[in-house]
Order: sequence, then structure tokens, then C-alpha cells
Amino acid sequence: MAVLQFLRSSSSRPCSSSDPQCFSVGGWPVIVLTFVLCTGLLLRFRRRRLNLPPGPFRWPVFGNWFQVGDNLNHKRLALLARKYGDIFMLQMGERRIVVVSSSELAKEVLHTQGVEFASRKGNIVYDIFTGNGQDMVFTGYGDCWRRMRRIITLPFCTNKVVQESHAVWEEEVNMAVEDLSSTRESFTSGIFIRSRLQLMIYNIYYRMMFNRRFIDEGDPLYVELEAYNAERSRLAQSFEYNYADFLPFLRPFLKDYLKRCEELQKKCISLFRDIFLAERRRLLSMAKVDDGDKCAADRILRDEMNHEISEDNVLYMIESLNVQAIETTMCSLEWVLAEIINHQQIQDKVRDEIDTVLGEVMLTEPDIHKLPYLMAVIKETLRLHMPIPLLMPHMNMKEAKLGHYDIPPGTKVLVNAWWIANNPDIWESPDKFNPERFVQDDIEVKGSDFRFLPFGSGRRCRPGSTLALPLLALVVGRLVQTYELLPGPDLDGLDMSELGGQSSLHLLHCSLVRVRIRA
Ligand code: HEM
Repeated sequence: MAVLQFLRSSSSRPCSSSDPQCFSVGGWPVIVLTFVLCTGLLLRFRRRRLNLPPGPFRWPVFGNWFQVGDNLNHKRLALLARKYGDIFMLQMGERRIVVVSSSELAKEVLHTQGVEFASRKGNIVYDIFTGNGQDMVFTGYGDCWRRMRRIITLPFCTNKVVQESHAVWEEEVNMAVEDLSSTRESFTSGIFIRSRLQLMIYNIYYRMMFNRRFIDEGDPLYVELEAYNAERSRLAQSFEYNYADFLPFLRPFLKDYLKRCEELQKKCISLFRDIFLAERRRLLSMAKVDDGDKCAADRILRDEMNHEISEDNVLYMIESLNVQAIETTMCSLEWVLAEIINHQQIQDKVRDEIDTVLGEVMLTEPDIHKLPYLMAVIKETLRLHMPIPLLMPHMNMKEAKLGHYDIPPGTKVLVNAWWIANNPDIWESPDKFNPERFVQDDIEVKGSDFRFLPFGSGRRCRPGSTLALPLLALVVGRLVQTYELLPGPDLDGLDMSELGGQSSLHLLHCSLVRVRIRA
């Protein structure tokens, strides 16, 4: 009551500089100032109580942005790990990021405390492209994520799906392998094999997803889709927007960038809704009750009809899966081919293994398990050039403990899986491309060995490894079975420079490759 009376009297009374009460209590400004100071002190007190992970000195407002900048790639974070340890914290403006860089801590985040750290943390651009996490990759951990994960996994990422679809894979791979020798340049000046292999990967995933294929690289729908995906990837993966993600008061400077993202996202979503999904809806509406599903989209649309997920979820899920599946598989394939072109003896050894096991018989997916050296080459490539080197960003919803440190809720937690797999304290000569290490020691690739986590581990891990691993092996095996793969003329090898992104790791340059039909 006294406070109310004071407020009333101080606000209703005209105030003048000669009035002593005006100076002694100050009215609203003093109350607001006192409130801000008390809150600040309380927060400081609370912060002091928290035992936060080490990290560089934090400046007010900007945190570590001056020291670290925008480019938070895996190698930069590995250098910081050398300085601050296996767990460190960066305060990037208003974003708090904890980076873990050891197998033990990775196990804590992904497995032991997997539930606590199972949510995701996006950024201003990912939020646009995923409709604020409606896509499953960025959906918060909970019932909705569980439902989406089941809905994606069953028609798309199981061994049964591989068994049912490998004939389609083989058909597409054989067409691509044959096409490579259809131009003279393949044997002379060399060609960018990326273009044909990318069409092959699109066709494999689009036949599985929509029962639909593109005729050739000039197919107008393919041209449009590929252009959208490439631009989406460029905009989402760039580090150039980080400053405005960290420091919201700088967002006006990013207005045009964000507008471009929004417009592109609308176009992508319309393409999926009005063409790919509209066709499946039309065919489903004409199908008989006991007609089976022809592709993954049919199954997903049935789940939508049963009200398990919303139409928006279907759209965002399919749109983001199209990027997630194609981009990771394609960039892994490019890395493997570049490595075996630059290491001809290893390429010969893969070929010898296939010849010994299969003779003249053409490689098919069921043979893959008989080819441990081929698989070791794939694993070694994923170790050295991990396509998602920091995994996807994890987040804790509640305060948590990690390695004796307190992790405040809402912290973005990055697992530097690339550094764990390339740390000389754990791996012998980690810079060397040496598939033998995976032959001598059968290191598991799907998340049970925390030294090697190209697909993550635990609840939010890699549903796609079931498809991606045999598919990569099939493509590489068929190419090597048919051709000797060589660098462009007058070149010793392919340029292995890399292009890191928010989550991806690409080969920077697309190089010319020559093929020679095997003697
Ligand atoms: C070589 C190929 C691939 C690699 C290296 C890869 C790697 C990864 C990694 C590291 C994660 C994050 C794990 C984590 O944050 O703990 C992930 C998540 C995911 N991947 Fe892949 N992936 C590949 C292919 C695929 C394919 C082919 C698909 C789909 C068919 C796919 C679908 C997904 C989905 C949906 C998630 C999110 C899972 C969740 O949040 O619950 N991936 N992948």
C-alpha cells in the first residue's frame, strides 16, 4: 500500500527542480533503474554461482565475437579446443555455444545424457528454411519428433527398404556408369563427372521418395529443383550471416539476405506441394484400398490423412530430407572419388578385391558385405572429410551438467566429431588417407564407437546411414569395376581444398576427371 501511495503521489504531483522530493526519490526513472540494477545483480550472482566451461574472455554485449568472428568451422573449433580443452564455451553475442571435443564428452551428450541434450538449436536462416523446426531435423525432442522419426524411417531408412529398392539403385548406377563413356572427352580432356553422378543420386532418391525420375540433366523440372537446392544450400551453409544471428540489433543489415531466404523457401515449398506431392495425392485418391504404397511419399501422405502429422510437417520434412539426403550422399561420393583418384594404389586394391570376390559378375548391393576393403575406403573418407563435421547442433532444454561444468538451458552444444576422428592423440597419422586402419581394427561407423561418429549417435543420430553406406559402396565399386579413374590431363591429382559450412563440408572445386576402360 505504501508503495502504491508513493507511486500515485510521485506521478500525480507536478515536479520541479526546486522540489526536494523530486531529487530524493526521482519517480519512475529511479524505480526502473533500481529494478534493472537488482536484476543485473541477481543475474551476476546467479552466473557467479554457475561453474561455466572455460573459454576466451567475454566482452559485454559482443561476448567472444571480436576474437572468434563468424567462421565457426570445425578446424577453427579444433584449434580452440587445443587451447581451452575438450569442453569450452563461446558467448557469441546473445548465443551461448558449448563445444565438446572428446569421445567421453560426446558419449555424455549423445548417449548418457542423450535425452537432456536431444533438442536442436537452429539459427535465423535455418529457422526460415525449416519453418521454425517443422521438418524433423530441427524439431524439438518430444512426441512430435518421435512420430516424425518413425514416419520417415519406416518407408525410407530401413534394411527392408534397401532390399526392396536396390534394383532401382543398380539400374540408375549402371546408366550413369555407361553414360560416362558416351563422350570422347571422358577419355581425353576429362569431364566434370559430378554433374552425371548428381543426376543419378537425385534419380535414386526421387524414385524412392516419389516414384519419379528425371530424364537427363536438361529436364526442366530437374534444372529448377537443382537450382533451388543449390541456392538453399549456399544461403543456409554460409557463415556470412552469423553476425546478425549472434547480435540481433544488427539484423536490419541482413534484411535483404533474409528476404531472399524467405522467397526461396516459398518457391521450394510450392514446388513440392504443387508438383511432387500433388501427383502422389492424385494417384493415391484413385488407388484401391489394398493397393500397396508405391513410394515413401505415399506412406507419409497416408500418415497425414490419419492426422499423425500436419500438411506443413509433410512439406517441411520432405523438402529438408531432399537436401539432407542428396547433399550428404553427393558430397561424400565426391570425397571418396577424389581420394581414390589421388591414391591410385588404393584404387587398384579396391578393384582387385572386387575382381577376386566377384570375377566378371557385375557388383550389386547384396555383394557389398563381402568387400571389406571397399567399405574401409568409404569409412576412411568419412573420417577424414566428415560431411557433417560438427553433427547437427544439439541443445539442452533444462540446466545440465557436462564434465563438471554447468550448462545453462538453451545452450547450443556442438560435438566436434571431425576433431575427435582426426585428433593425433587418438589416431595414428590422422592426416594420412589410410583405409587399412579400418581393416585392421573393425571400427564401427553407426555410432557405437565414440571415436568415429560421421552419423552421430543416440536418439538424434543418422537414420540415413542405412541407405547412404551401401549406396556409396555400390557407386564407387561399379565405377572402379568398369574404369580406371584418373585426374585431368597434366595433373598429378585433384584439388582437395575444402569448403566448410554451418553444418556441411564440401570439396571446394569440381575437378576434371578422366576415365580409362580397364585393360
Ligand atoms: C553420407 C551420408 C550422410 C551422413 C554423413 C549423415 C550424417 C548425419 C548426421 C551427422 C546427423 C546428425 C546427428 C546428430 O546431430 O547427432 C544426421 C541427421 C539426420 N540425417 Fe543424415 N547423414 C547422411 C545421409 C542421410 C540420408 C541419406 C538421409 C535420409 C534418407 C538422412 C537423414 C537424416 C535425418 C532426417 C537426420 C535428423 C535426425 C534427427 O534429428 O532425429 N541422412 N545425419
